[in-house]
Amino acid sequence: MRVLVTGGAGYIGSVITQRLLERGDVPVVLDNFSQGHRAAIPPGVEVVQADVADIAALANIFLGGTIEAVVHMAAVSVVGDSVRQPLRYYRENVANLLPFLEAMMRGGCRRIVFSSSAAVYGEPAEVPISEECATCPVNPYGSTKLMGERILADAAAAGDGAAGLHFISLRYFNVAGATKDAGEMHHPETHLIPRVLEVALGEHPHVELYGTDYPTPDGTCIRDYIHVEDLAEAHLSALDRTIAASGIYNLGNNRGYSVREVIETAARVTGRKIPIANFPRRAGDPPQLIASHRKAADALGWRPRRGLEEIISSAWEWRLRNPRGYAE
Ligand code: UFG
Repeated sequence: MRVLVTGGAGYIGSVITQRLLERGDVPVVLDNFSQGHRAAIPPGVEVVQADVADIAALANIFLGGTIEAVVHMAAVSVVGDSVRQPLRYYRENVANLLPFLEAMMRGGCRRIVFSSSAAVYGEPAEVPISEECATCPVNPYGSTKLMGERILADAAAAGDGAAGLHFISLRYFNVAGATKDAGEMHHPETHLIPRVLEVALGEHPHVELYGTDYPTPDGTCIRDYIHVEDLAEAHLSALDRTIAASGIYNLGNNRGYSVREVIETAARVTGRKIPIANFPRRAGDPPQLIASHRKAADALGWRPRRGLEEIISSAWEWRLRNPRGYAE
């Protein structure tokens, strides 16, 4: 199947692209390279350098109706940035989704797997969080992803049968880890695990620990970390079931770790010292996010197989092999 992967040069998109290739699908990458890396795209993959709002480029991609499905990952996705630049987040993640969906539908493509986020839940009343839990984002990023889901649900409800849109929205919890070829490299890097590994490498004097007064056992935020390979496998299952199992799914490990536990695990895995400096809370951070992935297990036949140690050790090995990240 020919699958358009928007944001396919990014950290997660490049792993999905690789997986699609491995199982015999034909991925086409659309990326504006604002954050992605050319070297992250597996060799031989067709690449279109354009924005998701570039109507002419989209018309060309969907021309002839050869794209059967889309994995829509292109987005801005840093919680703290979204608090500082909300309008940019609404434009890129919400406004740009509309011409994209219109172009896709015009081109006869009706199946989409959408990258959503645990950020839609805000500060959940209970954990683990099921998909039925109330959604009440506490940062603009989470709001944009919730709006994206509503747009998809309304567009799907408007058509029926083959004429309609079929979507699966995947609410990612905290994605981390690396494959043999692909790892996380953002400029600047804000995510906990890569930051901690940079400290282990001596690139920063300490990890900035954002908040020690949360209502959690050790006072630091709890998150559910999921290996990027497990996440990619969920996308393949979702692509095969966009019609049979359309809807919204959490992707996490059903297990939470505090920021301190992550740092301790990283110190153990790397055998390096990881000094910590206490900082105030970061705006927009909910205290605790832990997924229930039961729905994805039941309907997508998906189960994560890798835990925190493997997530950190894979990321560490990738960083040691690629100290400067990607070549360009
Ligand atoms: N943290 C630190 N120091 C750092 C970096 C992070 O203490 O240097 C803390 C944060 O305050 C937070 C936790 O580590 O409590 C995890 O932070 P990340 O930045 O790694 O990830 P977020 O939980 O903010 O966000 C990530 C994705 C979002 C997604 C969310 C869902 O970036 O897109 O997970 O859980 F919405």
